[in-house]
Amino acid sequence: MLAPSSHNTQPWHFIVDGDAITLCADRLRALSVVDPFDRELIISCGAALFNLRAALSHLGLAYAITLFPSSADPDVLAHLKIVPDGHCDATLAPLFEAIARRVTNRAAFSSEPVSPDVQQRLREAGMAEGADVICIDAVGERERIAELIAEADLVQFHDPRFRRELASWIHSSRREDGMPALSAGLHVLQDVAAPLVALAIRTFDLGDGMAATHRSLVTGSPLFLCLATGVDDAPAWLAVGQALERVLLTAVIEGLSASYLNQPIEVDTLRDRLLATPGLDTMPQLLLRIGRGTPVEHSPRRPLATVMS
Ligand SMILES: Cc1cc2nc3c(=O)[nH]c(=O)nc-3n(C[C@H](O)[C@H](O)[C@H](O)COP(=O)(O)O)c2cc1C
Repeated sequence: MLAPSSHNTQPWHFIVDGDAITLCADRLRALSVVDPFDRELIISCGAALFNLRAALSHLGLAYAITLFPSSADPDVLAHLKIVPDGHCDATLAPLFEAIARRVTNRAAFSSEPVSPDVQQRLREAGMAEGADVICIDAVGERERIAELIAEADLVQFHDPRFRRELASWIHSSRREDGMPALSAGLHVLQDVAAPLVALAIRTFDLGDGMAATHRSLVTGSPLFLCLATGVDDAPAWLAVGQALERVLLTAVIEGLSASYLNQPIEVDTLRDRLLATPGLDTMPQLLLRIGRGTPVEHSPRRPLATVMS
């Protein structure tokens, strides 16, 4: 339940049957404009799956796991069964306590560099789950990516369908999911009363303001992390989701904050241009900025009874 998910859709459902748990994608919560192939939806479920594995390891429970167990139903993403002679990865247990502390932090970070040792630990966390992790801290590269992000903001906010979809997940009537207005990083709207924010997003092309806000956040963040995979299919997305959460929890333990700047990956033509980044020769899946931030509030969650049966 505490995993990150795009637009805080929480697109997962858990079916518990004795000592077995099945994780299903809840495609009713899909974002058809920004995520037409459910790539980010599956990534979000992968993050939830990683939390489940970390929790089982914390409890000392060994398990057998089958990914995509049903060829007939692509919504069934994973089946876990607790078995005494199963898999128990002791390295995951220490990450458990970070699950409740992890939060997406869209505020500015301090410019204090992230040390090479910590970068290496973040890289290893992602690689352990099968994703490539590219650390980008050179100023020139960060600036080039900042330009791609600003360009993507302009493309996305120019599209009324994108704005409508985003607005519906920032809606003030949402209590258990979606994003509070300020958490979307909409600094241009900071002085607008919350119920009006969704209206403003839906109605106006705020691309210029978003681009400027994101450009300054990006250039002020000491480290970018790109998670990438050799192939671009559902199993790869599930792996990236697990890698994402492992990286994020590792960052929490290192005292670091993270937030997302996925826009250039969500716009097809810009995803290709991102590939020109040195060291990046596989498909970019997620772009994070990492640094030291000040505490921010948690976003809402759906009640347990609605995500588990
Ligand atoms: C696959 C994925 C993509 C995301 N993309 C963005 C993004 O582009 N911009 C952003 O501000 N947050 C992004 N997020 C963060 C979510 O909005 C955030 O996880 C959600 O609102 C829940 O908040 P929390 O992470 O603080 O628990 C993304 C999260 C996931 C898992």
